[in-house]
Amino acid sequence: MGRKVLICRHFLCYSIGRCSSYTVYKAEVYPALYRSRYRSCGWRAWRHRSHCIWLSPQVPESDHRMLPVLLVLGAVLVAVLLFILHRVRTDGAWALWWHDNHLEKLKDFLSGTSRPVRILHHVQKVAQYGDAQSVLSAVDSYCSKIEWAMNVGDLKGQILDAVVLETRPHYVLELGTYCGYSTVRIARLLPPGARLFSIEMNPQYAQVAREIIQHAGLDAKVDILVGCTSDLIPQLKKKLDIEKFDFVFIDHWKVSYLRDTKLLEECDLLRPGSVLLADNVTCPGAPDYLHYMRTSPRYESQYFPSRLEYLQVEDGMEKSVTPERP
Ligand SMILES: C[S@@+](CC[C@H](N)C(=O)[O-])C[C@H]1O[C@@H](n2cnc3c(N)ncnc32)[C@H](O)[C@@H]1O
Repeated sequence: MGRKVLICRHFLCYSIGRCSSYTVYKAEVYPALYRSRYRSCGWRAWRHRSHCIWLSPQVPESDHRMLPVLLVLGAVLVAVLLFILHRVRTDGAWALWWHDNHLEKLKDFLSGTSRPVRILHHVQKVAQYGDAQSVLSAVDSYCSKIEWAMNVGDLKGQILDAVVLETRPHYVLELGTYCGYSTVRIARLLPPGARLFSIEMNPQYAQVAREIIQHAGLDAKVDILVGCTSDLIPQLKKKLDIEKFDFVFIDHWKVSYLRDTKLLEECDLLRPGSVLLADNVTCPGAPDYLHYMRTSPRYESQYFPSRLEYLQVEDGMEKSVTPERP
């Protein structure tokens, strides 16, 4: 008590609609009157608040002054959210920042699982066992509708399919497995007897990938190698007893594309006619790799424009072929 309230001069007349002026009283000046009348008067004043100040005793005067401030703050907050959502949909850096740094961590915290495990559970729930296409569709529908993930995705996946079908590789190397989506995509198109080796440095991702690949019925064609590409590439010849790779799909961290391509060259793992396909050369981008592949006489390079997986953001793939000797 003791706070000021604004009371209509015609407080007792019940015809608030005709009020035109107000007098300031202290509530405790007329405590009994205030208690017995405020309900009806307060209600009517509320209805006519365009010309009568609301008499609610529950709301302090300072709250009325805060209202415009709160409205402006709310509007600014909504505008900032709309701006972020727009950037997330149209700008690759914003999209990756939002999905990887915020949404994924929030969902991990809320569910107590990781994104690859959530993808695996979805695949096990909806995809038909032994059907690679159904596994791909399950991952795509989950990642486009429920939770974004860094698989190559269906749109660029069609470029990948076309290059694999055209190359008909016998030995394939993949750098960056994640959940095994692109591994399934490539392996399902390989001719009988062909083998795919995929390198993943995160053991948990590698385990999820193994289970997804098994669900797709392709485990006999695929080996997941756990470790860092810079450590494993120099060991491949000895470890796998393989001379050269016909096709290399490059899709790990973008800063490592050029280093690992040069490592493949140094380790003599590419033959004339070997095909390298690199994902995400526009978003997030691998400018040093692109410059090297496009200027080096060792390669003939071609760019395939597309969009970043599951988003309306520009991205593309670079196909580079080591020319066959005449
Ligand atoms: C973009 S994701 C791969 C997506 C996958 N190719 C697909 O399309 O389904 C990149 C993966 O590369 C792995 N990675 C990054 N750098 C690596 C490295 N130097 N050695 C091995 N794995 C690496 C990351 O852990 C991550 O799982």
